[in-house]
Amino acid sequence: MAKDPVRVLVTGAAGQIGYALVPMIARGVMLGADQPVILHMLDIPPAAEALNGVKMELVDAAFPLLKGVVATTDAVEACTGVNVAVMVGGFPRKEGMERKDVMSKNVSIYKSQASALEKHAAPNCKVLVVANPANTNALILKEYAPSIPEKNITCLTRLDHNRALGQISERLNVQVSDVKNVIIWGNHSSSQYPDVNHATVATPAGDKPVRELVADDAWLNGEFISTVQQRGAAIIKARKLSSALSAASSACDHIRDWVLGTPEGTWVSMGVYSDGSYNVPAGLIYSFPVTCKNGEWCVVQGLPIDEFSRKKLDATAEELSEEKALAYSCLT
Ligand code: NAD
Ligand code: LMR
Repeated sequence: MAKDPVRVLVTGAAGQIGYALVPMIARGVMLGADQPVILHMLDIPPAAEALNGVKMELVDAAFPLLKGVVATTDAVEACTGVNVAVMVGGFPRKEGMERKDVMSKNVSIYKSQASALEKHAAPNCKVLVVANPANTNALILKEYAPSIPEKNITCLTRLDHNRALGQISERLNVQVSDVKNVIIWGNHSSSQYPDVNHATVATPAGDKPVRELVADDAWLNGEFISTVQQRGAAIIKARKLSSALSAASSACDHIRDWVLGTPEGTWVSMGVYSDGSYNVPAGLIYSFPVTCKNGEWCVVQGLPIDEFSRKKLDATAEELSEEKALAYSCLT
């Protein structure tokens, strides 16, 4: 029997990530090739015409899984009955800007959209915040939507996770799908800590540690980390626009693994509400290694953290605490 359609909200759908993301969702990349979807697309009035153009293209593409499209500038209409909400709407960082520069514009959007989601989304709606500052926008959304369970509000660090996999695969000249269990700790910003201490590569002789195969700690502790941390800025410099196709693809990976589960023995990175695991202060949206099963994520516990890593976990937590304070100061 055909499955009932799942309603997926994309905010900022007329923007460049939105334009890459909605066809992926309509093709089943996010929720599976047998899962019909109804797309809800929200943007602001100046983008209404462009949004309507995206709707026309969705119709023209005749996606078999796409059972309906709601394109609107009304947040209540957009949020009504949605099962998954991908929050992309906001203002992107431009060349020369730090994420803090986009803070005041974006956190106020997340405060107001929190109530629309809380009141009108389907029960148990899963929320993924993509717009920057992603962790702090997600935290504001959580705080202003107290009836949404905190486990349902996450932010995107899967792009950073995938970037780390990509760097290791290029360095070792192996398939990216053979590399697993990198970790992104902390903020989706240049203070994030891409950690390969537990990462492995599948070889004909079984899984081998990345550290053993790369055999260059100076690179792993230096250039590898800074390349992943700075990749967003490098893309902005090259494209004069921030990343879009990789962000959209990683957003699909995030939701797919959350809903359908992570493969046995594999974890992924998600920005989630911290509960004090790994001595990260509780009450931040912080990226951890997680496994997912039956629609629930769970932080991977018990990984040994060396002194080098500890400092980096603490530094990115510190930045998130500062962002949290700054966000509140922007809202009052
Ligand atoms: P964009 O400017 O092309 O699109 C953003 C869209 O949001 C625009 O159409 C704009 O009209 C809309 N918008 C603005 N305010 C809105 C509101 N209140 N409600 C609904 N829509 C609204 O930007 P983009 O390149 O698509 O990037 C979107 C966001 O994603 C930015 O904040 C960017 O920094 C962030 N980003 C995050 C990651 C990540 O990995 N977490 C990666 C790339 C980009
Ligand atoms: C990215 O990581 O590509 C985005 O968050 C854009 C940015 O501002 O770095």
